[in-house]
Amino acid sequence: MQKLPIIMVATGAAVCVLVGSVTAQSGGRGKDPRAEAQKAVMDDMADAQEDLRDALATKDGEAVSVAALKIEGFMAKTESYWAAKRAADIVKLAQTSRALSKDVAAAGAANKILVAQAALEKLSANCNACHDLHPEKR
Ligand code: HEC
Repeated sequence: MQKLPIIMVATGAAVCVLVGSVTAQSGGRGKDPRAEAQKAVMDDMADAQEDLRDALATKDGEAVSVAALKIEGFMAKTESYWAAKRAADIVKLAQTSRALSKDVAAAGAANKILVAQAALEKLSANCNACHDLHPEKR
């Protein structure tokens, strides 16, 4: 009976080694944490765009502005992510998107719902333009 704890310790060590090697392997398979974080930024971007559309539908200029400024912040993160990867064309799209987000925000703050709507359509076209280039596959 006295030998049991020793065996358990030995088994524990073996499991640790095994888990360690599995972790190292999945790290080598290219799950870049920065790419994962950038994907999460995109999900937040989609949520903010949803809020923006809701705010336009209810003609709530203040809420339009708030949501558009959130998108602008996510676009800023997107810009620095692709700047670090030296993808000049993608950086440019992110910059244009930031400018358009600011246009939407300004129109919202001025309660110009139709102007905000038109700027959002341009912004959405930029979302699609970037997605169509699939920079994540480069
Ligand atoms: C400058 C480029 C760029 C712009 C602009 C852009 N995206 Fe993306 N987006 C990407 C890339 C690249 C991916 C793919 C990420 C991946 O799979 O690693 C992506 C993926 C997504 C996804 C899927 C995320 C997931 O979990 O797989 C959503 C949703 C999304 N974008 C929403 C938007 C919305 C909404 C806008 C505009 C308001 C937008 N994006 C603008 C580059 C961009």
